[in-house]
Amino acid sequence: MLTLDFTNCLATHVGSHGLDPALLAPGSEAHEAVAAHTKRLAGSRGTGWERWRELPFEPMRSQHVGAVKKIVEQCRGRFDTMVVLGIGGSALGNIALQSALNPPTWNLIESGKRGGPRLFVVDNVDPAYFASVLDFCQAAPGGLSKTLFNVVSKSGETAETAAQFMVIRDLLSKALGKDYAKNIVAVTDPAKGTMRQICEREGFTTLPVPDGVGGRFSVLSPVGLFSAAMCGIDIDALLTGAADMDKACSNPDLHQNPAAMLATLLVELGTSKGKTNHVLMPYSNALYLLADWYRQLWAESLGKEHDLQGNRVNAGFTPIKALGTTDQHSQVQLYREGPNDKVIGLIEVESFERDVTIPTGLGVEAIGYLEGRSMSFLLNAEKRATEYALLESQRPNFTLKFPKVDAYHVGQFINLWQIATAYAGLLLNVDAYDQPAVELGKQATFGLMGRKGYEKHLTSVDRALGGDRHVIGP
Ligand code: PA5
Repeated sequence: MLTLDFTNCLATHVGSHGLDPALLAPGSEAHEAVAAHTKRLAGSRGTGWERWRELPFEPMRSQHVGAVKKIVEQCRGRFDTMVVLGIGGSALGNIALQSALNPPTWNLIESGKRGGPRLFVVDNVDPAYFASVLDFCQAAPGGLSKTLFNVVSKSGETAETAAQFMVIRDLLSKALGKDYAKNIVAVTDPAKGTMRQICEREGFTTLPVPDGVGGRFSVLSPVGLFSAAMCGIDIDALLTGAADMDKACSNPDLHQNPAAMLATLLVELGTSKGKTNHVLMPYSNALYLLADWYRQLWAESLGKEHDLQGNRVNAGFTPIKALGTTDQHSQVQLYREGPNDKVIGLIEVESFERDVTIPTGLGVEAIGYLEGRSMSFLLNAEKRATEYALLESQRPNFTLKFPKVDAYHVGQFINLWQIATAYAGLLLNVDAYDQPAVELGKQATFGLMGRKGYEKHLTSVDRALGGDRHVIGP
């Protein structure tokens, strides 16, 4: 199991910047609140926007895993490259799983030895980036016929994904003729939406984004499972890890429930101690992009103008990702001596899949202490040293420890944060499942792009951004 060590969030260790342990003790308000919220979450799980809670459990688990594996089997040997088209919750999980569980050199490994296709996840409409990926797919042996495009969009109306899809559809149909649909697998709403209509019309193979599973809570659905399984990731272990974490996080006792504790610490430190910036800093390159996935989850779920009663609260915290040890040489100066407005979540890996021993024999005294040591020893020593240094500056921090980085523990990590987010939403009294503030930008884009019915947004944008501007430069 992952472990959560929150000692350094307590006043006993960081003085007035930490929480009084009595605040968390049995019988305390926080302890009772967690018991009540656990009961509430048990009642609402599997309903409304909390259907994601059931993804690691039957019957959804077998339905999804079965459908995913069937398509993976059909695709086996047919494709050398896979391109995921999606954005936000329809891309971040795919990127995180691939970087956590496959080597960073995956795309450079020879086809026969890779255990799955090369993977690109195109989560933007940067034309230079997209064109480079497409150039590669066209020039690779077999060209587009050996490329699988995985369109992931619950709605099908997201401008970025729709634009990517329209480009590849045109390219594929020109290159492959009427058979082009065989090179597309779409993950979308099983019954409704624009992408569903396109899939029906064009005959794409599809997988579902289940009803009641929002984008940022969808990585354990076919949204994340399909590209992971295509690239050889053990999706059964991923879901078992998530299920085991769910069980631990269903305990009404705050001190036995890591998600409830994480949420309570971060919400309390954020609201009563001014620690509104929440850093996640893995000491592991593999886990770095899971911190990117966490950023969306924490930001979009909790950053809300209104509480559930409609009062203006402007709730939320700023999630930040950092990498140990890299950011010791970039960010830690700020974390120790800048504003004391952060909680720093360190992630430690007990046992690395591979290790590198630093050779003996150089014989230079100044760096001789490194001789014969392993890199994992150095990395974890630096993590411990940073934890100590943060403590010396009274900066609250906690450590999440992975026994090792594998699909089982990554599944635990994902569900730990998803469930922590559900608790944090309740503690902050906000709707963790909507994202109303994202809408205005989307509508303004529609206006700027000339979509019918959105003309007034074009006028508003021109008015707001027009007139005299203060600009330096030609
Ligand atoms: O978390 C979310 O809901 C968003 O990030 C969505 O996933 C993102 O906007 C993409 O939406 P869609 O899957 O409908 O294309």
